[in-house]
Amino acid sequence: MELVRDITLILHFIGLAMIIGPFLVQMRAHSGYYFGWVMTGSLVQLVTGLLLTGLAEMGLADDPDMAVNHTKIAVKSVIATVIVIAAISAYRKQKKLAGGDNERKLLPYLHTAGALAIVNVILAVVWTGVVR
Ligand code: HEM
Repeated sequence: MELVRDITLILHFIGLAMIIGPFLVQMRAHSGYYFGWVMTGSLVQLVTGLLLTGLAEMGLADDPDMAVNHTKIAVKSVIATVIVIAAISAYRKQKKLAGGDNERKLLPYLHTAGALAIVNVILAVVWTGVVR
């Protein structure tokens, strides 16, 4: 079970990179935003996050003194869901744009996704709670 948890956590970090990477690289770009990556990364975060939560619950089931911080999980899930929505909306809008259209109006979506992912990293690290 430890191996499953390790692999899931590694995928959780890769999903994180798929959101924050495009944000950092393209935060001042004028076109060609990688919303497909951001969308996939945000879905990876939701799925691996839920799996990690389940694995943590299983690991703590026999220990009455330890518990998963459900408030933290709920807040992270809401934030991750907003990122998914922003990424899917931007991806669809980008597909509909014609050749000459100004893509820069989609930049706020990238900024929202990137900033919220960074907020989730900060919450994951600073807000204690998910114990193994
Ligand atoms: C953009 C979304 C997300 C980001 C950037 C993110 C970031 C992180 C980071 C950096 C860690 C490692 C923290 C550490 O080891 O100190 C972590 C761990 C964790 N995350 Fe997320 N997370 C996201 C979404 C979620 C969601 C939606 C859930 C739950 C539904 C979740 C559940 C967890 C759990 C349970 C752990 C602890 C794993 C363990 O140590 O066993 N995460 N997350």
